[in-house]
Amino acid sequence: MHWKEAIIYQIYPRSFNDADGDGVGDLMGIIQKLDYLHDLGVDILWLSPIFQSPNADNGYDISDYQAIQPAFGKMDDFDELLEGVHRRGMKLILDLVVNHSSDEHSWFQQSRQSKENPYRDYYIWRAPKDGREPNNWLSFFSGPAWEYDDVTGEYYLHLFARKQPDLNWENPKLRQEVYRMMQFWLNRGVDGFRMDVIPFLSKDPAFPDYPTDRYGDLTLYANGPRIHEFLQEMNRDVLSRYDCVSIGEGFGVTADIANLYVGSGRNELDMIYHFDHAVPRDEINFVEPRAEFPLPELKAVFDRWDAAIDDIGWQNTYFGNHDNPRVVSRFGDTERYHCESATMLATVLLTLRGTPTIYQGDEIGMTNCLFNSIDEFDDVQVRNAYEALVASGRYPAEQFMAAANRIARDHARTPMQWFDSQNAGFTAAKVIPWLKVNPNYSTINVAAQQVAPDSVLNYHKNLIRWRKKTPAMVYGTYRDLLPDHPALYAFERHLNEARFLIIANFSAENTELAIPETLVWEIAMSNYPAPEIDNKTILRPFEARIYQY
Ligand code: GLC
Repeated sequence: MHWKEAIIYQIYPRSFNDADGDGVGDLMGIIQKLDYLHDLGVDILWLSPIFQSPNADNGYDISDYQAIQPAFGKMDDFDELLEGVHRRGMKLILDLVVNHSSDEHSWFQQSRQSKENPYRDYYIWRAPKDGREPNNWLSFFSGPAWEYDDVTGEYYLHLFARKQPDLNWENPKLRQEVYRMMQFWLNRGVDGFRMDVIPFLSKDPAFPDYPTDRYGDLTLYANGPRIHEFLQEMNRDVLSRYDCVSIGEGFGVTADIANLYVGSGRNELDMIYHFDHAVPRDEINFVEPRAEFPLPELKAVFDRWDAAIDDIGWQNTYFGNHDNPRVVSRFGDTERYHCESATMLATVLLTLRGTPTIYQGDEIGMTNCLFNSIDEFDDVQVRNAYEALVASGRYPAEQFMAAANRIARDHARTPMQWFDSQNAGFTAAKVIPWLKVNPNYSTINVAAQQVAPDSVLNYHKNLIRWRKKTPAMVYGTYRDLLPDHPALYAFERHLNEARFLIIANFSAENTELAIPETLVWEIAMSNYPAPEIDNKTILRPFEARIYQY
């Protein structure tokens, strides 16, 4: 199967399934659920980082790229997992986090020792400027992006946490080191990589200050002068030599330049995913969160990206991942129309043009969780923002908590809800999981949904099976029919003789739509029972229908 035809499923290993009962998910836990994933119908599993890490950013700070994080298991477990995935006809891709490493990586330990150390240039060091940071860049996780290190009296750059020093891609030795590491995993049999903040690898070597009118605009870090050179080199030296897939996390990539990364003939990446519909989490959002996208704006994002990528490149589509709150809490109605809204959103995700990624738990409609105090959060981003905004006395805790309860990444990281038993079956009953379990597990869990024919889970299975036999969902063109409609998303997918109309009601109200009568319609998929003849033009709350004509 070509990767364009695949459906990806993202696993956040810490939260997926804990087999050894230490409160943290692990590789054996994933192995135990491979039949579940196969039965769901997904093709490619993407694992968030599984490597050795002190977990300042839950594995996105790697201290050894070729060792498995002990809490997740051993290399033997990994081999068994890979074999189990392949035996079921699925593929496995790993997270490639090479914009930065952990400060506990041996490269950095060496690098900080002296200016002459052979590893010095593996990282980005600069002398103080007028006694302070070399420029005014901010970190994603609050505070300046530079940290002073006593040992040599210089600053190192860290776009993320202090414990995530940025690697220096200007250094060819570092690049070769990364390529060797990629080959290590590819030779072991992995099927590709999701590439963390890939547009950040190249930085402007002059390290200019932010222009004051864009102060704090973190997208300025993206798309540096040598990024395409680096990716073409990586492609030539590594990716092109293997049968593998590459997916770029396209932070800071705008639609108009996306095909520089993924356009055919560019020899860079296979696909990229953008942030235009993600929840912004710059620090200020933790006290003044941006209002959720009204539907026309959301559609404009999808329209813009589809038009820009067109059939020249390819994109990876998603609603949820480990960096966003739960999609059904964003765009659905978790109280009155949980199942309807979760299945409506799935319908849209799986019918847009692009390779979709389903985030773990979205297939059962997992929701945001109520965090009652800052101590219940784990994420370095939310904790640092709290220090900067609340502990410093600038904003009241209540305001922060209200915002964090909307936008924090931990919403997506609460343990997977398998059963209606203590800890949702994620870990042994007596154990305290690393992050709180959403108390709604008693109603939202896999076991309950497996036996309910109309559940979110079973809808996903049916939809995935239907999509797989419908090439127009992969290769068909896309056209938004009602870009300005405030409640309905209606678009067409068209391939040769095959035409499909997807209509999704994003509101909790009945919404009328005059469907052209000149055409003979047949409902191919729907998340409600078939409408009465005379009610055909009314879309019920969060109803989604796929028509074929
Ligand atoms: C990416 C990851 C995110 C991580 C950051 C730093 O955005 O998806 O989880 O915190 O990069 O590695």
